Amino acid sequence: MSDAGTLLETAIAAARAAGEVLTSRFARPHEVSYKGLRDLVTEADLLAQEAAIAAIRREFPEHEIVTEEARLPQGSDRTHRWYLDPLDGTTNYARGIPCFSVSIALECSGALAVGVVYDPLGGRLFHACLGRGAFLNGVRLRVSERDRLLDALLDLGWARSQRARLLCLHAAEALGPEIGSVRTMGSAALGLAAVAAGWEDVYYHPELAPWDMAAGVLLIREAGGRVTATDGSEWHPLAGGCLASNGLLHQAALLKLRDGAVRNEGPS
Ligand code: IPD
Ligand code: CA
Repeated sequence: MSDAGTLLETAIAAARAAGEVLTSRFARPHEVSYKGLRDLVTEADLLAQEAAIAAIRREFPEHEIVTEEARLPQGSDRTHRWYLDPLDGTTNYARGIPCFSVSIALECSGALAVGVVYDPLGGRLFHACLGRGAFLNGVRLRVSERDRLLDALLDLGWARSQRARLLCLHAAEALGPEIGSVRTMGSAALGLAAVAAGWEDVYYHPELAPWDMAAGVLLIREAGGRVTATDGSEWHPLAGGCLASNGLLHQAALLKLRDGAVRNEGPS
């Protein structure tokens, strides 16, 4: 078993390697292709992914890596699984909007152990290790203490599929009249990091993959917040989305969402 320090250093090295690729190519024209409905991929996603995988493989060639843009053969070590999103916020990136991140998490024997979200343009590196807190550029993070929906800022992720968009609309309808205000960053990892930092108070997205969420989930837990599946059940990497909050607002948000809830019945 590798020590937590080496695992965290590797996650940070991989995030920085991917971030360097993203920063260096940001201002150039991109080769954009579609891999699904409203689902872009650029040359930068692929090159950043290569750089991050190389950094992980250098230290841990036997670990499993679950990454957005490739299906890699399973490593011999089944107890360590990395979740990698080399570019979270591709739509922003491809349009020149400076809001995107690298998201990397490590699961050890089924438990999230390390999470790193890196905003390379802003020079903001969020990290968390299980039981050791969450940090932004080395400074400890705490979720907000807001306890009224009226004062809260909701980050409402906008899904791709029609089915999930109905859930987003329902969330807007259920929470919109109650909440202080609404944002959407276009990078789930940054939205979750914003809740961990106390900048936002609630995050909702009904259609996310493990690599979008895992690092941000650990950040929020370690900053004292709460994450569940969108229906309030226990969150897991394949939960398909999440409701995240500072903890104080979780129940109130869930109750509003449950009011006349549209059922999430799996991918359309
Ligand atoms: C996307 C972003 C976005 C969310 C999408 C995700 P990608 O990730 O996190 O905020 O709304 O559902 O797929 O495709 O840019 O890595
Ligand atoms: Ca991505």
